[in-house]
Amino acid sequence: MTKIKWLDLILFGAVLVAVSSSGVGMADPHFSAMFVFGDSIIDPGNNNYLNSLAKANYVPYGVDFSEGPSGRFSNGKTIIDYLGDLLEIPALPAYTNPFATGKNILRGVNYASAAGGILEETGQNLGERFSLSDQVQNFEDNLNQLKSQMDDQELSIYLAKALVILIHGSNDYINNYLLPSIFSTGYVYSPKDYADILVKRYTRQILALRNLGLRKFFIGGIGPLGCIPNQLATGLTPPGKCVAFTNEVVRMFNTRLISLVDQLNSNYTGSIYAYGNTFGAFYDILNNSKEYGFSVIDRGCCGVGRNQGQITCLPFSVPCANRNQYIFWDAFHPTQAVNQILARRAYSGPTSDCYPVNVQQMAQM
Ligand SMILES: *[C@@H]1O[C@H](CO)[C@@H](O)[C@H](O)[C@H]1NC(C)=O
Ligand SMILES: *[C@@H]1O[C@H](CO)[C@@H](O)[C@H](O)[C@H]1NC(C)=O
Repeated sequence: MTKIKWLDLILFGAVLVAVSSSGVGMADPHFSAMFVFGDSIIDPGNNNYLNSLAKANYVPYGVDFSEGPSGRFSNGKTIIDYLGDLLEIPALPAYTNPFATGKNILRGVNYASAAGGILEETGQNLGERFSLSDQVQNFEDNLNQLKSQMDDQELSIYLAKALVILIHGSNDYINNYLLPSIFSTGYVYSPKDYADILVKRYTRQILALRNLGLRKFFIGGIGPLGCIPNQLATGLTPPGKCVAFTNEVVRMFNTRLISLVDQLNSNYTGSIYAYGNTFGAFYDILNNSKEYGFSVIDRGCCGVGRNQGQITCLPFSVPCANRNQYIFWDAFHPTQAVNQILARRAYSGPTSDCYPVNVQQMAQM
């Protein structure tokens, strides 16, 4: 009896596979492309071509990456690289890469720029960078090229089936609000008012992308910045504790982002918006580090001074050997081991990780 049942199931499965591969009545569960807007955590090397202090195109960055130092702020892959693997989308070109033209942009482009933020002035202490609005303009530039490669109807289907990833806001705190020696925002705005301003500006750009034809949006929240080696190195907090104020202010931003996602989903039918709970996922990794295989949670693998976080990873410094056991690669950025976990949770995690749907579910919508 059992055998027959199994056989039935196998035959039924074979029919399903045959139907889906012939495309009859089944939506193609793949994104056409991936367009990425963000900061250093996902910059694939855009800043290599800018006059910026925020660069990572030198050894030992990329020590575990097939191409060596590419400009990624990690020992290896970024969240976008891992998501691309899961979605079967080849590595995206950086917008500033001279080869990012013609057919090479058909599976998407990465516009993320280290030190860039939602506000125009964010990160100006580090030199040139692409702000969120610059990144949207760069996408429009690519869109003109895409228009020459397909007709109007093809283009609108292509854009509707593309995944947009936005990971912004960290620099609006680290390289703006929390740097009172350079920026006045910390004096002028209360944390609540500042979060309101950021989310208002963010909304404008998300809707601009929607107006251009994009329909599927993953919007990552800010992680627990109060726990990164750069913040721990301020010495504002006893060993083993994160900087509470920093975590509090970024949480205010995240709360507003969740509410924005709810509003966008109810106001704009025909498009979908998901919130990636980076804060919760990252905090879980910090809080349960041993279960994830991490033994060092409060120091950069490469860096100088207190918590290896006072000065970030300098050219030719010798990184730690056991990189898979470190949560942080440098003063600001996680190791690829953490990036992989974050990508998987965005891809297939429960609603506590990715709300109201995850990336895998978005692909099927
Ligand atoms: C969504 O619609 C509500 C009700 O009209 C409005 O108050 C809110 O500002 C809208 N939000 C967005 C992001 O469009
Ligand atoms: C950290 O973990 C402990 C026990 O696993 C739990 O009780 C606590 O709520 C967690 N803290 C946070 C902030 O997630």
